[in-house]
Formats: sequence, structure tokens, C-alpha cells
Amino acid sequence: MLDLNKMYEFTGPIKSDLDQFSTKLNDHLQGDSPLITSIARHLLKSRGKRIRPVFLFLSSRAADNYTEYSVDASLAIELIHTATLLHDDVVDESELRRGHQTVNAQWTNLISVLMGDYLFAKAFRIMVETDSIDLMRAISRATERVAVGELRQIEETGNYDLSEEEYVSIIADKTASLFAVSCEAGPILKNRMKRERDRFADFGEKIGTAFQMADDLLDFVGDAEVTGKEPGNDVLTGKVTLPLIYSLKKVGKASREEIVKYLRDGHEDTFEKIHSFVNETGGIDYTYRKANELSQRGLDSISSVSDSIYFKRLQDMVTFTTTRQS
Ligand code: IPE
Ligand code: IPE
Ligand code: MG
Ligand code: MG
Repeated sequence: MLDLNKMYEFTGPIKSDLDQFSTKLNDHLQGDSPLITSIARHLLKSRGKRIRPVFLFLSSRAADNYTEYSVDASLAIELIHTATLLHDDVVDESELRRGHQTVNAQWTNLISVLMGDYLFAKAFRIMVETDSIDLMRAISRATERVAVGELRQIEETGNYDLSEEEYVSIIADKTASLFAVSCEAGPILKNRMKRERDRFADFGEKIGTAFQMADDLLDFVGDAEVTGKEPGNDVLTGKVTLPLIYSLKKVGKASREEIVKYLRDGHEDTFEKIHSFVNETGGIDYTYRKANELSQRGLDSISSVSDSIYFKRLQDMVTFTTTRQS
């Protein structure tokens, strides 16, 4: 079964929220120019999982924090996410996204960057509609963190000494930031106490970090037919992620040096070789374990709402996040 279908088994209770989200997204992406319209059509056709809106709606409803502005908050965050993907695919020179050609591949890098800027601008306009300074502050800060994470990742390209702590801090910035603000949006819009805001932000931060660990695993074990992205990209472009960090640390100095040399020199079969190395030395298992443990700890942060039916669906979503195939 397609992963997306699996995810939608858990989103029944927020179906009408997601429908409103879709309708509004369609409306916002109509017609500012023929070029914008055709790229928007491409983006809507190859739709993503919309996992940030799902977490926003479920976590808001679990604590009675849903408001008339929740859909706008989710739209702003999803548009920012999409904008960062348009930029990320230029940076990573990726050609496949959501099972379709990337915007940079189908059009050009220039167009992908500018369309990304357009989506950022759109997101900010929608965010302002919520009239919440606190939400604007949180979303702006999260957007800044995405850029910091992406830039730090570039700085660390090819650094095979990267530690697990540094890795976690980078992925927290580039990915967990938007999950954290998605989960904090409910308490912010309802003007809840800082303690409650922090608990939900912490939940989002942990599941967002686990989500990126799972994404990094898919670069090793994923199937392009299902993920809609080419596996092996990270290894081949010198992006150092947790499975490799763990395995390099675990083995002795000689094997470590041999593997790093193999990576630096580049061979026909670099990906196959690194894949077996990481698999055989436990890097894959370790990363699954870490992602799972972290996301379970995330659920503990919001155990105060564990009686809610929405909490059960959040538990399902958390499991989905760390075991997903796409
Ligand atoms: C992809 O995010 C980028 C990462 C942070 C790993 P998603 O996996 O949420 O992308 P879509 O929106 O579903 O395509
Ligand atoms: C996630 O980074 C993209 C952003 C957070 C902007 P990746 O480069 O790991 O994501 P994919 O694998 O291209 O989706
Ligand atoms: Mg990428
Ligand atoms: Mg990237």
C-alpha cells in the first residue's frame, strides 16, 4: 500500500481541516502569471504528504487549541516548507521529488529559486492574516532556523568527523524547526501559557528530528518508486548522516580510514560499498532505534492530553514518521 494512503488512515478525525487546507491552497496558487500558474499546477499535482499540517491539526485539536486561524497557520508553514524544497533541490542538484521532475529539472535553477521566493512571500502574507504577533515571531524564527541548518549542512559537507551531536543540531534546525512551530501553533493561537506552548514545541522538535533521521535512512534503504527521490544522493554528495556517523565511529581506525578514502576518491560502486558497510556495522539499526526512541520521548512531552482521541492518532503518526517508506 502506498505510504500516503497509510497516513490518511490516521487523519480521518481532521478530514475537514485538511479539505479546507486543500481548497485554500488551490485558491492561493491561482493565476499571478502564466509561469507561476504552471509551476503551481506542477506542485499541486505532485503533492507532498502534508505531514506538517497533519501534526498541526491533530496536536491543536488534542488540546482544544483549534481556532479559525489554524488553517492559515498550516498553509503558511506548508508554503514555507515547499519554498525550502524548491531551494533545497537547487542546492542538492536533485532531479526527482515527489515522483516527478523537480522544478529545477523541468524548468531551471533560476526559476526554482524565484518560485521559492514567491512561495515565501505568499506564506508571509497568509501568516499575517492570523493577526498573531506571537505566531509570526515563531514562524519567522523557524524559517531562519531552516536557513541556518541548510547553511551549516553545506559547511559540514565531506566532514567525516562530524559528531552525532552536531548532526542532530543541524537536522533540528533544518527540519525539526517547522515541525516544532506546527505543533506550537495551537497553543500560540489560543494564548495558552508558556509551559503548554513549550511542551507542544518540544513534541514537534523531537518528532521533527526523528522525521529527518528517517529521511536520512531512506537515502540508504529507500526505493525511488516509493520515496519519489533518488537514494544514494547523500552519500555521493558528501552529506554525512547518522547511519554513517555511527558506523564510522564504531569500527577501528584502519577500516575507518579505508572507508573515508573510498568516499573521498569516489568509485563506480561507492554507494553499494557504503551501504553494505553501514548495514553490516549496525548504522541502519542504530538510526531506526534512535528515531523511534526520540519520537516516543516526544509523545511523553504531551502526555497531559493522552485521553484525547486525537492523541491516539498522533501516536499512529509518530509510528508512521519513523517507519515510513516515503
Ligand atoms: C522533505 O519533507 C524534506 C525533509 C525535511 C526531509 P517531506 O517528506 O515532508 O516532503 P513532502 O512535502 O512530503 O514532499
Ligand atoms: C531537507 O533536506 C530539506 C530542508 C529541510 C530544506 P534534505 O536535502 O535532506 O531533503 P530531501 O531528501 O531533499 O527531501
Ligand atoms: Mg535535498
Ligand atoms: Mg538538502
